Amino acid sequence: RKKVTIQHLQHLRKIGQPITMLTAYDFPTGRACESHHIDITLVGDSLAQVCLGYDSTTRLSLDEMLHHTRAVARGSKAPLLVVDMPFGSYSPSTEDAVRNAVRLVREGGAEGVKIEGGLEVVDVVRRLTSVGIPVMAHVGLLPQRHTILSGYKVQGRDAQSALSVLQSALALEDAGAFAIVLEAIPQALGTYITRRLRYAPTIGIGAGSQTNGQVLVWDDMMGTWHGHKAKFVRRFGDVKGEVDKGVKGYMQAVRDRSFPAPAESYDITPDEWNKFLS
Ligand code: KIV
Ligand code: NA
Repeated sequence: RKKVTIQHLQHLRKIGQPITMLTAYDFPTGRACESHHIDITLVGDSLAQVCLGYDSTTRLSLDEMLHHTRAVARGSKAPLLVVDMPFGSYSPSTEDAVRNAVRLVREGGAEGVKIEGGLEVVDVVRRLTSVGIPVMAHVGLLPQRHTILSGYKVQGRDAQSALSVLQSALALEDAGAFAIVLEAIPQALGTYITRRLRYAPTIGIGAGSQTNGQVLVWDDMMGTWHGHKAKFVRRFGDVKGEVDKGVKGYMQAVRDRSFPAPAESYDITPDEWNKFLS
């Protein structure tokens, strides 16, 4: 299978073929992205919530991100491997951002990094690009800022806020971002920004169907949980249903001694057994 490059993503954008991106947090999910030919595997900092049980992505450390990135990298080879820079790892200075992004590339196997933010991260994007680390930008809803935003809310719903998302996207493209995630914005704005950008593909999550690609969190998409579901999530699988079925069935079979069956057990010849007993 051919390696997915930035040039290939730009080709997909040009011919209008939607880019597929999924998150992965461990070896088996990385392998699934690999074997089904996903274009971009993202080690998202949603890792904090869906795998590690933190209540916010802001709790995730760079070392935790590195640990999971290495596991994903061992399974996901052909897709472009992008890794979220954890909260605080690309501030206070651009040199901290360089040092930490270099660790994700060198120690983790990341091929690009993703950074949340608008005009305030333009310098970081330019600096990382200049040292040779491709940057995926992320605008609209910024989960790392949920406290300042007073929750996980749709962005760009009034003219002024829509303009600010657009201006951020244009400035981030200018700074060298190779792609831009648009999270939780009106579909008209997702379409408009996608048309206004000159080369960077847009990857939408809650930004309508006309972005250059789509991304979803693995656990949302697979139905690992049956709790709150954001409007933009579609469940393509029912992992929770399968897990419930499996655990219940196992417990019942152990308790009624139908597991293990003779076919699942080992035998000794009667001869040897009699010798053993005597
Ligand atoms: O952390 C994450 O999973 C993400 C994607 C959903 C874009 O940032
Ligand atoms: Na993220």
